[in-house]
Amino acid sequence: MRRSMKKAISLFLLSMGVSGLMAQTNEFKIDVQQTGAPIQSTMYGIFFEDINFGADGGLYAELIKNRSFEFENPFGGWTPFGNVTIQTKSPCFDKNPHYARLSFNKELTGTGLDNEGFKGIGIKAGEKYDLSFYARTVTNGPIKFRINLVNDKHDIYETKEVEINGKDWKKYSVVLTPEVTEAHSRLRITMLTQGTADLEHISLFPQNTFNNRPNGMRADLAQALKDLKPGVFRFPGGCIVEGTNLATRYQWKNTVGPVENRPININRWNYTFPHKKFPDYYQSYGLGFFEYFQLSEDIGAEPLPVLNCGLSCQYENDDPNENCPVDKLQPYIDDALDLIEFANGPVTSKWGKLRADMGHPASFNLKYLAIGNEQWGSLYPERLEPFVKQIRAKYPEIQVIGSSGPQAEGEDFDYLWPEMKRINVDLVDEHYYRSPEWFLNGAKRYDSYDRNGPKVFAGEYACHPNNRENSFLTALAEAAFMTGFERNADVVHICTYAPLFAHVDAWQWRPDLIWFDNLSLVKTPNYYVQQLYGHNAGTNVIPLSMQNEPVTGQNDLYATAAVDKKTNELIIKIANTGIQHRKIKLDLNGLSGGKHKGTVTVLHASDLEAKNTICKPDQVVPVVSDVELEAPAAEVILRPLSFSVYRIAL
Ligand code: AHR
Repeated sequence: MRRSMKKAISLFLLSMGVSGLMAQTNEFKIDVQQTGAPIQSTMYGIFFEDINFGADGGLYAELIKNRSFEFENPFGGWTPFGNVTIQTKSPCFDKNPHYARLSFNKELTGTGLDNEGFKGIGIKAGEKYDLSFYARTVTNGPIKFRINLVNDKHDIYETKEVEINGKDWKKYSVVLTPEVTEAHSRLRITMLTQGTADLEHISLFPQNTFNNRPNGMRADLAQALKDLKPGVFRFPGGCIVEGTNLATRYQWKNTVGPVENRPININRWNYTFPHKKFPDYYQSYGLGFFEYFQLSEDIGAEPLPVLNCGLSCQYENDDPNENCPVDKLQPYIDDALDLIEFANGPVTSKWGKLRADMGHPASFNLKYLAIGNEQWGSLYPERLEPFVKQIRAKYPEIQVIGSSGPQAEGEDFDYLWPEMKRINVDLVDEHYYRSPEWFLNGAKRYDSYDRNGPKVFAGEYACHPNNRENSFLTALAEAAFMTGFERNADVVHICTYAPLFAHVDAWQWRPDLIWFDNLSLVKTPNYYVQQLYGHNAGTNVIPLSMQNEPVTGQNDLYATAAVDKKTNELIIKIANTGIQHRKIKLDLNGLSGGKHKGTVTVLHASDLEAKNTICKPDQVVPVVSDVELEAPAAEVILRPLSFSVYRIAL
């Protein structure tokens, strides 16, 4: 046993207060006939925020950084050569007015622009890429451009030519089909004709996007989301909803309509962590609210947008001028009402028409709306209340979600929960990024929650040790904790792990569910835990106990049971956090006598520090086997350090 592994295991065991290391028989009583609370179809969802280059440079398939020359440094991401300037006169797009002017007068260097992409441009051999831009000539006559893909050794491996003509802005495009696969290529545009021309919104998009959507998502990353079978999709944040100040808050109306004319916004994760500064991090809003709704539909999840409540990030500033006064909140509330119209309204309504014009006349069937992210103090309820009143009055069918603040307990949390009850929100958003010990102790968290108040939405949660790395240890602790979600499905209606994505070369925050580079991705052990819950949610909880108690850590075990009425199956989930095999006797009350076939899926690693990486993505993956349980009394043996999900035909 490696030293580090020994250390990890002993820490883990200490933290759990393990009673003994001898295997012993544990007896679980499961009553299949006592169908309990329904498990909401929204129960296991996902949370997306544009952090760690999750949107631009990640899920959003655009490959050009700063395609509109709108960064504070308009050449950010670009290397101009020859005579290139930035202009704003008579722009092509009024909300993104900067463009590049290129003049070529036989300069020895040539005149043109290189784009570096997001830590390079990921290109796959044989795939087709649409290069497009808007252009006009300033001098008379047509102007020819050469378009190249160049690798990091400056070898050129794709060349096309495009000729532009005319003094009015027009869109030009050409298809690039590289013959090599390269994670760090660059796009190069060079003038071949003498003269002057203007270029704007230079875009390079793979034709292969998820569900072949134009302006779509990177296929592999979006597929990984769909493969989780998420019940709900929370977007677009997180702290970026709040903004560092109100001017930089997320405003959904800036993210819809023609993609070229969505005004960009600085991303707060550009500068929030000084030790992880990314001056090139902006939000292009190419992935905007229309695309979020469409993606929710494409992956089969209920959309769950979060809107600013009139407060900017309370961590970042305490300037009262950065809060919208309560009596001036109406534009913020209108944003919420208009969003519901954008998602669900008839095509004859103002915002419903925009949705239809963007290609989706049918309603997106929005059911949930969160107001505020991690807010605290009386500033929050006094703003939330008018939102709730107006949303209820106009759209009583919408479930409104309030926040209990950034902490999972303590003064702010204790103040906000009763306030949420008073305001009568439908669900309360809780956030916790905590240690393995906290997660294991928290398996009982919801057993004592008020059954008559708002429901729980665990909107951001992830387990992490001090180094915040994703590992099997954290995944196993989350699996154990989540048995508490399921057992309390009458109270917990939605949970979404956070955050989703991180670029291996450009991350600010961990842990994260999926890591990626420009060509591939890796699913963390935590991903597989979420997937096991998502695919094995069941429809109703059923009682599971050991010595008349729920199984919340006795003998290192955490367990819960459900039935799936649609498939007529019993589902048992058991986390064994100890280093011993555990023998479990299952008393299956209500199951007809005899053998019942099924499967068991096990996520296991003998090293708690085990990780999946881009180079070794399969260190911790679930393994499925057939299983047969004898009713009414069966015996199973659990592997040490494992999460097992049994699915048994009833
Ligand atoms: O997920 C990263 C951040 O964590 C979110 O933006 C915020 O809501 C939480 O503090």
